[in-house]
Amino acid sequence: MSVNISVRNAVKRYGAVTIIPDLSIEIKDKEFFTLLGPSGCGKTTLLRMIAGFNTIEGGEFYFNETCINEMEVSKRNIGMVFQNYAIFPHYTVQQNVEFGLKNRRLSRDEIKNATREFLELMQIQEYHDRMPERLSGGQQQRVALARALVIKPDVLLMDEPLSNLDAKLRLEMRQAIRNLQKEVGITTVYVTHDQEEAMAISDRIAVMKDGVIQHVGTPQEIYHRPANIFVATFIGRTNLLNAHYSAANKSIQLDDFSFPMENIAASEEGPVVLSIRPEDFTMSKEDSGGIKSTITDSIFLGLNTHFMVALPGGQEIEIIHESVLDLDFKSGDRVYLTIKVDKINVFSEDGNRNLSRDV
Ligand SMILES: Nc1ncnc2c1ncn2[C@@H]1O[C@H](COP(=O)(O)OP(=O)(O)O)[C@@H](O)[C@H]1O
Ligand SMILES: [Mg+2]
Repeated sequence: MSVNISVRNAVKRYGAVTIIPDLSIEIKDKEFFTLLGPSGCGKTTLLRMIAGFNTIEGGEFYFNETCINEMEVSKRNIGMVFQNYAIFPHYTVQQNVEFGLKNRRLSRDEIKNATREFLELMQIQEYHDRMPERLSGGQQQRVALARALVIKPDVLLMDEPLSNLDAKLRLEMRQAIRNLQKEVGITTVYVTHDQEEAMAISDRIAVMKDGVIQHVGTPQEIYHRPANIFVATFIGRTNLLNAHYSAANKSIQLDDFSFPMENIAASEEGPVVLSIRPEDFTMSKEDSGGIKSTITDSIFLGLNTHFMVALPGGQEIEIIHESVLDLDFKSGDRVYLTIKVDKINVFSEDGNRNLSRDV
């Protein structure tokens, strides 16, 4: 059985220090849900509260209709995978996976069959009689996953499971985890500080800062319409520009350039901060009504080239342009910029609110 997880007004304190002041989330049945945030923001703390390894200083945790606050760890039926693989070095791969089933009153055949099923699912059946020291990091993490899942848990909790792997393996394993989670169909809470990993793997993401959830949404929602400037800058790259919003004309003034902006819910006038992704500008040598700017630097990165561009008022931005063969832009060039206006996010001056209507 898989469950939905409901966290209502959770509080976590260590002594006098409050790590999580008041946190609520709803994680859906079979969802791949990721807690994303900088190191120290409380991701592991929250995950350990769900698992039952941490005391709870306030609020309620539910699996479906059942409050689990007082439930023992062993009764929660959770599978866990950590950063350090935590598999037994003196057991073979097969024995490691069988381990969780040994106390479950299953017949030898049932244990064997279940173990084989998950070794095959994780594509490590051929290593079943190897000792862990003779496996790569990625293979060891596959063993840890198979062992976590073979007990048919209601919930799978993973805390930075890929951070000890090299870059190439990380990509491979995140795809494997994603496929596995869909195939098994299990509610999963995944912790990472890597925004790209979170976007690639998750159905939904909760972005955290200082124990407070900043935004919950799909990777697309969070990328395109971040709730505040922290989220806009933590997810992907963006340019932040000081500008002015005029409610009367429904327009944005950026330096001496102005353009219409219909999509704003706020009625207040005044200083705002624009967040514009580097791919949402178009550069042209011809003046077709764009912002007259100057290229100050460029970095060729293969697929794309990154340009640093100075706006007339002195603000600097980064623009990403596909590296086509006849790309004719270089440092010192005068260019005219147009912006994909519907992609712009307009934030309150303090950065705490996205003023766009559809957020
Ligand atoms: N056992 C503990 N005692 C005191 N403070 C702790 C303990 N565990 C974590 N913390 C503190 O709680 C905060 C959140 O930690 P953690 O949940 O591990 O962050 P993350 O996983 O997001 O990097 C940090 O400031 C950390 O120092
Ligand atoms: Mg952590």
